[in-house]
Amino acid sequence: MNKIVQLNDKKFKIYLSEDEILIKVKELADRINKDYAGKTPTMLIVLKGAMLFASDLIRELKIGCKLEVISAKSYGSDMESSGLVKLKYIESNFKNSDIIIVEDIIDSGLTIKTLTDELKKYGPASIEVASILSKPQARKEDVQIKYTGFEISNLFVVGYGLDYAELGRELRDIYILYED
Ligand code: IMP
Ligand code: MG
Repeated sequence: MNKIVQLNDKKFKIYLSEDEILIKVKELADRINKDYAGKTPTMLIVLKGAMLFASDLIRELKIGCKLEVISAKSYGSDMESSGLVKLKYIESNFKNSDIIIVEDIIDSGLTIKTLTDELKKYGPASIEVASILSKPQARKEDVQIKYTGFEISNLFVVGYGLDYAELGRELRDIYILYED
């Protein structure tokens, strides 16, 4: 399969197929089901990128869960992180909650670090992270990701919630930058 998509000025080629992604999501959900048996974790979905992953993940959970959302923004309209993380919409009380942060990708780790530090102020029982993608080589902050879907190299990807200049989030597969 060699699907190419054009988003604005950039071309992307398929990197991880929908089938591969959904198998991985099921594996992560199975682990969460085991680890959180008897508990009701709060799935904290980081908007907008984690929407598609979260929707697939929570439907595979056999344990009960609560849903919360937060908006985090660190990227501008290009492919470079702004180095600043803006958080919006923390309205809930997370006291004694078992929080699972649901993310699309862990890049520098700054978003997760900022969010985790903020959440600790609420006195949760636990905080873990589930991310469909991780770029270990891009890491600037030391963050622990308990549930990682795929570790990928330090390249820009789109699809399955991830965007390039707000485009491409709806794609079912994950695509990587393609230079011809
Ligand atoms: P971090 O704070 O550097 O870990 O960046 C995390 C956020 O940057 C992710 O939640 C994404 O929204 C965005 N991001 C990082 N890498 C990519 C990418 O390859 N494609 C699209 N968005 C990305
Ligand atoms: Mg994100």
